[in-house]
Amino acid sequence: MNEALIASAWEKFLQFSPGTINHVEVFFAPGRVNLIGEHTDYNGGFVFPAALTLGTVVMVRPRKDNLLRFSSTSFATSIEVPIGALRYHAEYDFANYPLGMLWALEKVGVPILGADYFFASDLPSGAGLSSSASIEVGTGVAATALAKASIDRIKLVKLAQKAENDFVGVNCGIMDQFAVGMGEADHAILLDCNRLDYSLVPFVAPSYRLVITNTNKRRELADSKYNERRAQCEQGLAALQRVVPDITYLAQLTPQQLVEVESVIVDPVIKKRVRHVVTEHARTKRSVELLRDDNFAAFGQLMNESHVSLRDDYEVTGRELDALAKAAWTVNGCVGSRMTGAGFGGCTVSLVKENALQEFMQVVGDLYHEETGLTASFYTSALGDGAKKITKEAMSLCRF
Ligand code: GLA
Repeated sequence: MNEALIASAWEKFLQFSPGTINHVEVFFAPGRVNLIGEHTDYNGGFVFPAALTLGTVVMVRPRKDNLLRFSSTSFATSIEVPIGALRYHAEYDFANYPLGMLWALEKVGVPILGADYFFASDLPSGAGLSSSASIEVGTGVAATALAKASIDRIKLVKLAQKAENDFVGVNCGIMDQFAVGMGEADHAILLDCNRLDYSLVPFVAPSYRLVITNTNKRRELADSKYNERRAQCEQGLAALQRVVPDITYLAQLTPQQLVEVESVIVDPVIKKRVRHVVTEHARTKRSVELLRDDNFAAFGQLMNESHVSLRDDYEVTGRELDALAKAAWTVNGCVGSRMTGAGFGGCTVSLVKENALQEFMQVVGDLYHEETGLTASFYTSALGDGAKKITKEAMSLCRF
């Protein structure tokens, strides 16, 4: 828990929503990093994300009227909406995420009560670490607590995805909301996105650190390119179903099976997209076995292969992410590095030996700057818990 974040959030919250702190409830929802298994979730494959200790603090004060008010440290706008008007408006900016979550909750009968919602985050926004899923799930946990409604956590996760798909209009898979809602400290989550079966896999690597490196390149057109990749996967699936009619998802094919049937896909671009999905799914399954054997070097190798596949076959990396990965691969103490999240800018995740951390940041920072003119930022977040209430801890950090 980032105590400094909470302490400074109190000050800003009380400016936004003056009064005593007696009835204020505080929640924390993490961001997530995906270790491997990229663009497999909406293809019924495995993903292997983890919740971070970086995330969003959500402070909520119930109101006596029927208003919902939203404010955040990361955006200039504050928004006020009557509870009967849960509709998307582009100019609402970040507030569309909490609004979408409330809209999805209302649809399943959770009463939406007037409240001031305040968000403070130490996640870089729009950097591929699920800052939006963090706001959605954080709002969901807060709003259900406020309404004294009990809702199964996986159901809440699915409603957060629905908010993103049907309210915000981004056709994302389930991975981000699942990791934010279901994470556990020092664990990654192996999630089968077809059946929504999951297991928590201990990620304890005493002499290694996970380093997240931000390209600091604003993602552009990411949503439309993301939706385009999904459509290409659907096209690939439709072609393959002509020869393997019993598959409903691309991830049901092994790489060997794909080689035997891929000639039915005529378009070379679609063929590459499908190859990424099928090989990435296989890499993800293998990664978990390797980690269970503490074979970090071999896991790191798969991280590198994942990046190459996302670069050459799925084509979602781009100059900046490629520059970061290439720089990371030159550092001896870095056993693996790849882009994480949707791509098109955002962050890489690297597994780095503890004693090479300084060298890693120096070398990667310098090489990246030389190649792109941009300055990278580095985060060494631990793996943390899923969204939860932290009112008691937060109260003790209030100095006002
Ligand atoms: C985004 C989406 C996820 C997933 C990843 C790519 O983060 O929200 O559902 O598809 O991209 O793996």
